[in-house]
Amino acid sequence: MDWKRDTKLIHENLKPDAKTGMITQCITPAVAYAFPDAETASDVVSGEREGIYYGRYGNPTVQTLEKKVATLEGGEACLGLASGMAAISTALLTFLKNGDHVIVTKDVYGGTFSFLHSLAPRFGIDVSFVDCTKLSSIKRALRDNTKAVYIETPSNPRLTVLDIKAIANLCKRYNIPLIIDNTFMSPYLQNPLQLGADVVIHSATKYMNGHGDVLAGLIISNASTIQFMRKRIAGDLGQQLNAWDGFLIIRGIKTMALRMNKHCENAQKIAEYLETHEMIDTVHYPGLSSHPQHQLAIQQMRGMGGIVSFEVKGGCPAGKMFINHLKLAMISFSLGDPETLVQHPASMTHASIPPEERLKYGITDGLIRLSAGLEDSEDIIHDIRQALNRVQSSIKIVN
Ligand SMILES: Cc1ncc(COP(=O)(O)O)c(C=O)c1O
Repeated sequence: MDWKRDTKLIHENLKPDAKTGMITQCITPAVAYAFPDAETASDVVSGEREGIYYGRYGNPTVQTLEKKVATLEGGEACLGLASGMAAISTALLTFLKNGDHVIVTKDVYGGTFSFLHSLAPRFGIDVSFVDCTKLSSIKRALRDNTKAVYIETPSNPRLTVLDIKAIANLCKRYNIPLIIDNTFMSPYLQNPLQLGADVVIHSATKYMNGHGDVLAGLIISNASTIQFMRKRIAGDLGQQLNAWDGFLIIRGIKTMALRMNKHCENAQKIAEYLETHEMIDTVHYPGLSSHPQHQLAIQQMRGMGGIVSFEVKGGCPAGKMFINHLKLAMISFSLGDPETLVQHPASMTHASIPPEERLKYGITDGLIRLSAGLEDSEDIIHDIRQALNRVQSSIKIVN
């Protein structure tokens, strides 16, 4: 039976336990596994026979999650890891080694930027941060030693939308794998493998789990790539996801349709409200017709997502004052939770980058990133209004 998406989130690859009938999944903490004989043990280790042999290379609960997520993203296999950054570093290190070059979209998540900017060069990996809204810029950045293209769409925190199909076609022409961070969308809103990407990554810390109580990452790709990642990269680096967190994500996925629809609905209303307030310079949200890639977003995404970013007039002091005056929304570095969360990149996530450098990545002094929660949108908007009004009465804007 070909179920609809909302049904698949709940039922696909999940069955009641054969012995007890229990509907929830087992949490299996085992690290060690016993084998009937030496031959079976060696067949499982070599991959000739299916099985789990040591906790660093797999776990039955995490395997249930992996099978489910692989299906949701339309991939052959999935690897569950200890954080989104574990997924990102594993995916990049799978394709890159000493002497290789990678093209990366210029407004990428801060942790990915940090990994590529400071850690990757220590292993002889060269990186070009490129404006990937233009195919010609990607083409110009290509070198003989380019071994991967890495993008994030919509991007964090500017919500730039990139044309996955067009970039994937370009990558295919040059035989270069395309890796996509799909965290902001979740598999419910966007499936990059179906648009031609080779590898999809999620920080499952965000919408996949959805409750702010798990740190996890997921990679989805073809079976041989995932097997290589599991055995040769993540296993050796020790990045395995634990069973308890795997269970919580399986549970979180069951309510993903309800959550994602409400996140999108609230974000759209918030973005539309922000456009009307005179203290706001620009609103970045793919669901607004003012967004530069609005048409592309409609074609490529099933929903516009739960993240809105916007520029408060008055620069850094105004940005900080705005978040300080919020009463319902909380100041936090995370996103994708039931609570509305805000952060001011110039003084928080991107504070260590000099202002001129920050501007190159679109991080203006008054920029705020808001993760729309699951509360009543009227309460969120009321909170934003009162905080903006307080900023307006305290700061004199010189135009
Ligand atoms: C788009 C995106 N990718 C990856 C990550 C990293 O995920 P984690 O914190 O689970 O390592 C984040 C974290 O905020 C993110 O926003």
